[in-house]
Amino acid sequence: MPTDNDPILVTCGLPYANGPAHIGHLRTYVPADIFVRALRRMGRDVLFICGSDAHGTPIVVNAESKGMSPRELVEFYHKHFEDVFRSINVRFDYFGCTDDPSNHHRTQEIVRALMERGHVYPKEIELAYCPRCERFLPDRYVEGICPYCGVPARGDECDQGCGRHLEPGEIKDAVCKVCGSRAEYRKQTHYFFRLSAFREFLLDYLQSLGGTASARNYALEWVRQELKDWCITRNMSWGVKFPGSEDLVVYVWVDAPIGYISFTEEWCRSHGVPWERYWRGKSRIIHFIGGDIIYHHCIFWPAMLQGAGYTLPSDVVASGMLKIDDKKFSKSRGYVVWVKDDYLDQGLEPDYLRYYLASYTSHTKEVNFSWKILQEKVNTELVGAFGNFLNRAVTFAVKNFDGKVPEGELDPEVMKRIE
Ligand code: MF3
Ligand code: ZN
Repeated sequence: MPTDNDPILVTCGLPYANGPAHIGHLRTYVPADIFVRALRRMGRDVLFICGSDAHGTPIVVNAESKGMSPRELVEFYHKHFEDVFRSINVRFDYFGCTDDPSNHHRTQEIVRALMERGHVYPKEIELAYCPRCERFLPDRYVEGICPYCGVPARGDECDQGCGRHLEPGEIKDAVCKVCGSRAEYRKQTHYFFRLSAFREFLLDYLQSLGGTASARNYALEWVRQELKDWCITRNMSWGVKFPGSEDLVVYVWVDAPIGYISFTEEWCRSHGVPWERYWRGKSRIIHFIGGDIIYHHCIFWPAMLQGAGYTLPSDVVASGMLKIDDKKFSKSRGYVVWVKDDYLDQGLEPDYLRYYLASYTSHTKEVNFSWKILQEKVNTELVGAFGNFLNRAVTFAVKNFDGKVPEGELDPEVMKRIE
């Protein structure tokens, strides 16, 4: 159990370098930034880490459609996120990228450790293969029918039906997303992480996990039901090479959270601090994430860390979702507010938006964003209440004390009420 004197590491879920920042992103980053500022004011030893998530099929597919290389696309959005965070005053100590050499290195190190300890095994599975494109079709390269609920689904997720995460080979009636051909199923050896063996560990670990009850309860619910072993390799060239294999990379959800470690290493290297202080010792690791990635942070990730011998997260803080004008956030339907184009570039004050996100409701509840409410909150609460309070205090000080707050003791009763 960490104590108050242990170093604290705060991280934010890594944004995919696959599209611009929208205010749904800020729902996680702004509260984390406020939390870190508060810890610093309290004199606590805290490091604040984030970075861009560079791998996975959506980035490759998107880059292809734009006629860019995945690296070019990632570099573009990496810079975009850095700029947006700077402008909105979210101040990470370090903002890395999961395609940086240090993350390739740390990921292979962890995968090797898991293999040596017997947590990874090979297995032959049948995978969707496109005879026309002459390639296997990982994740978003394939569409078909969900084997659980029979609704059309993507290769990695039943996004319109039951919401299940789909493992490679599970999708039925597969069709190649690139050329539209009916896919065949071909055998190939892949590697699996023995997640099922971590059931007892997770039940125990999750009971004492701090952060929001939403994260803990959701994860416990999953673990109590069923834990399947997890396929951690994909047929792609963009990604972190699976150790000892030429044509497989690790699944993006393996190397992405490892970014939390490699970015800490990067910061530590340039500050002369051993990174083990955070990831091998007694530290307090706090993950701020969106409510949609609890499964990955409370199940896969701690099992991987436990299996490879790293410090476990002490808290997972999951934020509620963001709605736009009471509608579910949707890029395709136009219910979206882009941080740069729609807000910052219009000359709007970053603090107005930060205030909105921090004060609208509790952290785990849904936040509704509308321009009308923003206007009302700024006018009544910031200008009206807060501005008026400052104005009165300053006017009072100028009028009665020559503009200087006189020296003296604070009445203990006042102090008590402030506390
Ligand atoms: N890029 C992922 C998303 O936006 C989050 C990755 S978080 C990490 O859903 F832990 F994997 F790094
Ligand atoms: Zn389904």
